[in-house]
Amino acid sequence: MKILVTGGTGFIGSHTLVELYASGHEAVVVDNLCNSTQTALKRVEELVGRSIPFYQVDIRDRDGLNSVMNQHRFDVCIHFAGLKAVGESVEKPWEYYENNLSGTLTLLDVLRQHGCKNIIFSSSATVYGDPAIIPITEECPKGHCTNPYGQTKSMLEEIMMDMQRADKAWNVVLLRYFNPIGAHPSGRIGENPSGIPNNLMPYLTQVAVGKRPELGVFGNDYDTPDGTGVRDYIHVVDLAKGHVAALKAIESNCGCAIYNLGTGQGYSVLQLVNTFEKVNGIHIPYSIKPRRAGDIAICYSNPAKAERELGWKAELGLEEMCRDAWNWQKNNPEGYGGMENGKLKTEN
Ligand code: NAD
Ligand code: UFG
Repeated sequence: MKILVTGGTGFIGSHTLVELYASGHEAVVVDNLCNSTQTALKRVEELVGRSIPFYQVDIRDRDGLNSVMNQHRFDVCIHFAGLKAVGESVEKPWEYYENNLSGTLTLLDVLRQHGCKNIIFSSSATVYGDPAIIPITEECPKGHCTNPYGQTKSMLEEIMMDMQRADKAWNVVLLRYFNPIGAHPSGRIGENPSGIPNNLMPYLTQVAVGKRPELGVFGNDYDTPDGTGVRDYIHVVDLAKGHVAALKAIESNCGCAIYNLGTGQGYSVLQLVNTFEKVNGIHIPYSIKPRRAGDIAICYSNPAKAERELGWKAELGLEEMCRDAWNWQKNNPEGYGGMENGKLKTEN
């Protein structure tokens, strides 16, 4: 299939491109590079041995999107583009609503005008809020999102479901990711956070590489086996393969379908730290800090629906996630070379 990948130079998008090409699909990438660099795409091209058309276009730019869609006919759009930092969204709610909601509304409109009514959307386990049931199935009611980022995911899910209800020509697949970590085993592509990482694994790998003195563990008084937060970490390569599997739902005219993409296993912060130390033979200094506002104690998936309906299940475990995250960080201590206003300071 020919696929429009928005946000394709980002962390999950770049890994998904590799898996799309490995499965015989073709992609065109649209990204405004606000949180990524074209070097990621160059490296994907090396890995897949093909050149991939790229347009530096903002998804809020209707003319820009029209121009891309006048040049290509797409079967499906995989929509990753969006702002994703939870804390920043609390500081800058307008920017998050404007980018994620306006951008997606414009994209949906331009897609339908060009006859492409198939979309796979990056949603998040954050829509479950503090989950009513654990492990979380797709039937779990959506919860209260404590931040604007999470609200944009939840609202966009509703918007796409309403559009599909009104026009049955649409197929909408909502993928609710749990906690993607790790990197491609080649060490050529990976997560490239700008500034101080918000998420656990990129922070931990920056401690491992000596860029930060120690990891802060946010709370050890949760109602969990060791008191630290429990999450469903999923290898980004497994997550990427989940998008290829989701194309099957589109092919079978699924209408609207929702899938959890997780492993079904919950691990605590300290279990992750211990596994990282054991697998990579590196000591990670840490200290216990107060709980982080908005965090929940436990979040892990029941991923059975994706296996039953898409034949997809996560194959890689926590050890592979820790090994590949470290392999990426140690080979790319500055990520893709450091970014300034979306441009690379140094190419490598
Ligand atoms: P990322 O920031 O690495 O990738 C997102 C990409 O979108 C970036 O390359 C950015 O430049 C681009 N982008 C942002 N706004 C844009 C706009 N208006 N126009 C064009 N491009 C734009 O993030 P990621 O981790 O790869 O996440 C991909 C998607 O998955 C996001 O929608 C994110 O919210 C969602 N998600 C991520 C996680 C996670 O933990 N990484 C968890 C759940 C859901
Ligand atoms: N944590 C620390 N120290 C850190 C960072 C995180 O102890 O420096 C802890 C957190 O308190 C939490 C766990 O590590 O218990 C995981 O935290 P992350 O920030 O890595 O991930 P979250 O579960 O908070 O959120 C992530 C994404 C969200 C997404 C959610 C579900 O940031 O966007 O997963 O997919 F919605």
